[in-house]
Amino acid sequence: MSQEDGLKKIISHAKEYGFVFPSSEIYDGLSAAYDYGQLGSELKNNIKNYWWTSMVRMNDNIVGIDAAIFMHPTTWKASGHVDAFNDPLIDNKDSNKRYRADVLIEDHIAKIDKKIDKDVAKGFKRFGDDFNEAEFRATNPNVLRRQASIDEINRKFKEAMNDDNLAAVKALIEELGIVCPISGSKNWTDVRQFNLMFNTELGAVSGDAGIIYLRPETAQGIFVNYLNVQKSGRMKIPFGIAQIGKAFRNEIIARQFIFRMREFEQMEMQFFIKPGTQTEWYEHWKEERKKWHSALGLGDENYRFHDHIKLAHYADAACDIEFNFPMGFKELEGIHSRTDFDLKSHEEFSGKKLRYFDPESKESYVPYVVETSIGLDRMFLAVLSSAYTEETLEGGNERTVLRIPPALAPVKVAVLPLIKKDGLPEKAKEILKSIRLKHNVQYDEKDAIGRRYRRQDAIGTPLCITVDHDTLNDDAVTVRERDGMTQERIAIVDLPAYVEARVGLETLFS
Ligand code: GAP
Repeated sequence: MSQEDGLKKIISHAKEYGFVFPSSEIYDGLSAAYDYGQLGSELKNNIKNYWWTSMVRMNDNIVGIDAAIFMHPTTWKASGHVDAFNDPLIDNKDSNKRYRADVLIEDHIAKIDKKIDKDVAKGFKRFGDDFNEAEFRATNPNVLRRQASIDEINRKFKEAMNDDNLAAVKALIEELGIVCPISGSKNWTDVRQFNLMFNTELGAVSGDAGIIYLRPETAQGIFVNYLNVQKSGRMKIPFGIAQIGKAFRNEIIARQFIFRMREFEQMEMQFFIKPGTQTEWYEHWKEERKKWHSALGLGDENYRFHDHIKLAHYADAACDIEFNFPMGFKELEGIHSRTDFDLKSHEEFSGKKLRYFDPESKESYVPYVVETSIGLDRMFLAVLSSAYTEETLEGGNERTVLRIPPALAPVKVAVLPLIKKDGLPEKAKEILKSIRLKHNVQYDEKDAIGRRYRRQDAIGTPLCITVDHDTLNDDAVTVRERDGMTQERIAIVDLPAYVEARVGLETLFS
């Protein structure tokens, strides 16, 4: 299946089963905005809950807040977003389509990367089990030539961006012979900077004085509350402030479903530390975030770290955790060593001291910050896309199953009376009641049991509980597990503990 087909299938499955709908669809939708449906919002809440629990509940020194989306406009002057939150933009004169210049170059590099993967696959085919991939990558002349060309493109691009030399970025696009995917032409405009913040007017004030921005990151709500939280919570450095909330960016190209949206959600944590300790904490949080992802079991091979080529205006070190989405490896999360840039700048612009007095060393300083920032919608796509599986079963039947990590599944348990009479529905509803306070449970009595299993597989329900005639005598039920389709008989009295051990959040922390 091609990458494009893979993503299309996920988009259509997500709509059919109530995970994600195009926004305002009856008016033909709005580009890069999506609505989460009845199952999508459950999955989203479960991802948030996993993040919040691991950040805030499991760390004595991290607390959570919920700041307003609208902030004083000077916030964004101080943070550098008014002047520097730009993307390099380029138009194709024949198709009138607008692109991000850096994305055109990244896509070109991805094509060369794919050729390397093909060389490696050929090597595998030729040498079978004796094939040594690492050695092949280090010595094969084709691979080395292609890698050298990637390194050279990256070098030139980094130099151009660091020098703010947009003419050099255009020259690179021309040198690489990049064509517009729509018109196929190389008829490009100059590259120019485009600010990504949305603005609107506040209340009755008109003109520039009334302009406020929709926040492009949640982090600034944490920075401006740093002192409030530190003092009211009597926090001692090192400590963190976490937040989950909406962010808005006027993305030039918004595509690939919920991967790049204009309204999205972030889960961010700013960790305030003593200056000079940033390298140690940066490595610490890289490791911690890796563990968080790994516990979900989406496959460690589907993640990789990517150091930033061009550091943001606030960072002295930064990397992405990339995930193998249906469209290839792309950024899922950022880990940034933000120095004291933000707090210092807010001190300067607000005239208020944002310092920490260290009671042990008796010194006062502006803390440094290491940030972890993950897009909730991208995490949703990572979970959904890696879960989507089409299987041919023994006997030739097909099923589509979402192998969502059980603790994140939108519906944890389906309770199914074998038939709609003889007291089975009543017994099933009693069971439902005993579980629903802790877990999202569905009741289904329509159609043959096989069809009901398929419906639950398609939405990723880890456990199906079937109530049959024997249940009325032995007070036990048949529990069917989603992935292996194995079945076992469990006493009703043991069900709450049985379910919890398989789908509870705790399973991710063992
Ligand atoms: N506070 C730092 C910050 O905002 P970022 O790398 O620009 O850093 C962090 O964004 C994360 O937010 C990204 O790794 C990505 O998961 C998510 N994100 C950024 N732009 C997005 C968009 N347009 N749509 C969906 N998610 C986005």
